[in-house]
Amino acid sequence: MPFFMPDVQQSDHYSGDIARQLLAHYDVHARTLPWRTPPGTGFANPYHVWLSEIMLQQTTVAAVGSYFQKFTQSWPSFAALAAAEDADIMAAWAGLGYYARARNLLKCARVVVAEHKGQLPETEAELLTLPGIGPYTAAAIAAIAFGQRAVVVDANVERVVSRLFAISIPLPQSKPLIRAATGRITPDSRAGDFAQAMMDLGAGLCSVRTPSCFLCPLAFACDALRLGNPEVYPAKTPKAAKPQRTGRVYWIERDGQVWLIRRHDKGLLAGMRALPDDQWTARVDGHSTPPAPAAWRQLPKQVAHIFTHFSLLLDIAVTAWPTGAADPGEGEWWPLKSLDKAGLPTVFRKAAEAALNAGERI
Ligand code: ADE
Repeated sequence: MPFFMPDVQQSDHYSGDIARQLLAHYDVHARTLPWRTPPGTGFANPYHVWLSEIMLQQTTVAAVGSYFQKFTQSWPSFAALAAAEDADIMAAWAGLGYYARARNLLKCARVVVAEHKGQLPETEAELLTLPGIGPYTAAAIAAIAFGQRAVVVDANVERVVSRLFAISIPLPQSKPLIRAATGRITPDSRAGDFAQAMMDLGAGLCSVRTPSCFLCPLAFACDALRLGNPEVYPAKTPKAAKPQRTGRVYWIERDGQVWLIRRHDKGLLAGMRALPDDQWTARVDGHSTPPAPAAWRQLPKQVAHIFTHFSLLLDIAVTAWPTGAADPGEGEWWPLKSLDKAGLPTVFRKAAEAALNAGERI
C-alpha cells in the first residue's frame, strides 16, 4: 500500500465493479433532465451540455431548469447566442447569481462562432482554452457531449468518492486524492453516463446528512458504510465566518417609475441593472451617502442577502422625485408595473419587493 494513498487502497479490487454497478443502476434510475439524453442513447447536443454545465456551476438542478428552457428557446444555438445583445443576456440571467458566468457565456459563444465554426471543440485541452470553462466543466463537456474518457469531479462526486474510500483528509486538501480515486473508477466507455450517474447518486441517495445506503448500488464497495459513519465524509476544515457588511440602497420613485442604474463593468454584479447604493462591497460597509440630495426616508424593514464571501444587511432609503426635476444622475426610469422585466439581481429584487410592500413608501 503506497504511503500517500492509505484511504483509497482498501477498495482497489472493486474498481471495475463500481462502474458496472453504477451504470446498471443509472440505466434504470437516471434523472430525466432537459439537457440530457436517456442513458445509452448517444450523446446530448453539445450546446445544451455546455449551457447546462455553465448554469449548474454553484447552482442546483432545480434552480437551473427554467433558465435552461428560457435560454434554449430564445437562443437555440451558439450562433444565436453569439449574436445576442449583452444586456438581454444579463437580464435573462438575473436571479441565477454569479454573473461573471453570464459574461463568460457570451464571450465563449462568440469565440466558438469566430474561431471554431460554431462547433464546440471536443477535447478537454481545447475546451479549457475557452472563457468560463475550467477543469471541471471541460471534463464534464468532453465526457457528456463527446464521449471522451474524462475524470469529472464536482461537489457531489467529491462526497461520493470521499465515502467510497473513507478519505479522512479534509477538503480542500483531499482534492488531489479524490481526483486520483475518481480516475481509478472511471470507465473507458460511457464516461459521460458514469459522471452523471455519480452526480445523481450524490444529489439523491448519497445525500449530505442522511445517505440512503440501503438503496445504494455502491454499498458493496463503500468503506465509509463499512466503518459505520458515511455522513461524516467528506471531512472538512471549519470555514472562517463570513464578514457581515452593512449598506443602503436608494429607491427613487416618480410617476409610477423607479430610478435604476447600470453597475460598473468590474466587481460584484458587474454590468447588471440595479438600484443605486452607497458603495458597499465585500470588503467595506456602505458610507451612507445618497446618490443625490433629496428628502430621504429610511424604511423600517431591512433586507438580508448572503453572497459567497460576505453577508449583507441593507437599509432602504426612499424618496419621491419631483416631476420635471433633472434626473438623479446616470440611469433610467423604469415602470414599476414591469419591474420584473428589469433583470435585477436577487439582492436588488428583494430590496424592490420590500420597498413596494412598504405601506407608506414615499
Ligand atoms: N450538475 C452538474 N452537471 C450536471 C449534470 N449533467 N447532471 C446533473 N447534475 C449536474
